[in-house]
Amino acid sequence: MVIFGATGDLTKRLLAPALYNLSRAGLLPEDFALIGVARAQETAESWREAQFKALKDHLGADSIDEAAWKRLADKMSYVRGDLTKPELYEALGGALAKAEQAHGTEGNAIFHLAIADRLFGVVVEQLGTAGLTDQDEDPGGKRRFWRRVVIEKPFGHSLASARALNHTVKRKLSEDQIFRIDHFLGKDTVQSIMAFRFANGLFEPIWNRDRIDHVQITAAESVGVEQRGKFYEATGALRDMVPNHALALISMVAMEPPVGFDAAAIRSKKAEVFAAMPAVEPAQAARGQYGPGTLLGKPANGYRDEPDVAAGSNVETYVAMRFEIDNWRWAGVPFYFRTGKHLATKVTEIAIRFKQAPYAAFRDTPVAALRPNWLVLRIAPDEGISLQFEVKRRGPALDLAAVEMNFHYDDWFPKEPSDGYETLLHDVMIGDQTLFMRADMVEEAWRIVQPVLDAWAAQKADFPNYDSGSDGPKAANLLLAEDGDRSWRPVGQPSAQTQQEGLASATAGPT
Ligand code: BG6
Repeated sequence: MVIFGATGDLTKRLLAPALYNLSRAGLLPEDFALIGVARAQETAESWREAQFKALKDHLGADSIDEAAWKRLADKMSYVRGDLTKPELYEALGGALAKAEQAHGTEGNAIFHLAIADRLFGVVVEQLGTAGLTDQDEDPGGKRRFWRRVVIEKPFGHSLASARALNHTVKRKLSEDQIFRIDHFLGKDTVQSIMAFRFANGLFEPIWNRDRIDHVQITAAESVGVEQRGKFYEATGALRDMVPNHALALISMVAMEPPVGFDAAAIRSKKAEVFAAMPAVEPAQAARGQYGPGTLLGKPANGYRDEPDVAAGSNVETYVAMRFEIDNWRWAGVPFYFRTGKHLATKVTEIAIRFKQAPYAAFRDTPVAALRPNWLVLRIAPDEGISLQFEVKRRGPALDLAAVEMNFHYDDWFPKEPSDGYETLLHDVMIGDQTLFMRADMVEEAWRIVQPVLDAWAAQKADFPNYDSGSDGPKAANLLLAEDGDRSWRPVGQPSAQTQQEGLASATAGPT
């Protein structure tokens, strides 16, 4: 495995820890080598040390399994060079040959592009020109070794640039060599959506426009842009989160049952969801940028005061959108998505609101209104699933309460150290493309958001328009309010919804 961008933040925070976790879990192949590539003046030794230090800082020095780290560290080497120069690829060819000798990698290689997106095309071109992406087959067409390329996000900045990037990489690679990564799909709770839908007889029959009123997807973050001001100024919340993570979640919720769990079957079903989604009208989207405020009890900066951010920046740190899926299962059921930085808390969830029961039978009772049922798939950080429904309170009067059945992953399964990349890297190693975006899917995703990108680029926003530590801008509320009796679930403490809607108690799961 070759990591381009070996000294970067992504390698330190996510890739190296994921490889270490795979080593711990016994899932790193014995015949493995890791080659770091970057411009920095490092040696194999200093690169290894830097990764180890970051790992200790991240996990705590006491919880490191030294033997697992050593198994990985012994396989690490470093190649220094300029990604735009052919000399680097010559040196890399040498390093791969050495790895083959020393570690028995048999010619197989994964090139992981953990670099700035403007360099994706450049590196693939250079790899191809140097012959490093050629896969070898015997005369009978049986593959002797494979070459795969992992491409991080953002994959393009617009429909046109995504198309151009696909065109560039496809000149050197076939689609089965390309792994466009979206780390949300590496999360167990996201993969579990398919298990929940298709391994239970209970839910799928009600998973449609007859029973579902709308779907609310929230990816709220309390962190700001931290040290990523430069990246964020060129990207913004829409590009950072919507054509990738938001649509990945929507496709999981909305796809038809596949005929099997292989990559071709699943990706086709997801692609059908995208194909049925009209492009979002600018009026169906809201944007925001955080101003100063109080976040988790402490004073917090506005976005424009963050490092590497322009004083009058027009970049959005919040986006809300209303999507439609125009097919037999979903026509008329809006999928609302919102994401933002410096919000009240970190919560990623998919909340499905079912249609209201008819009220007539309760007319002559103290019950003033019925509350809808909510099914909430909690992706992070409190991983689980809850279902809210009405019961009669104890006592002689007919009075209702909304209660909750609540499943917590932590109650049932031991916690696995995981940042989501473990599954994805392992899938690349075994050549399973199920959790990766195909070329057509990426282009469809950009097509869906392009009108909003264009409209926002053409018109300056009145920023900042939400306080740090709040639930986001008011404009986002209108998106739902205009559709009738709908509002966002509170971003704050999960219990807020509970209190607001009068949840009496929650059942505890087995411990
Ligand atoms: C990344 C975005 O893809 O996802 C970040 O670039 C964002 O801006 C992150 O913070 C959120 O991921 P997670 O797994 O922390 O919810």
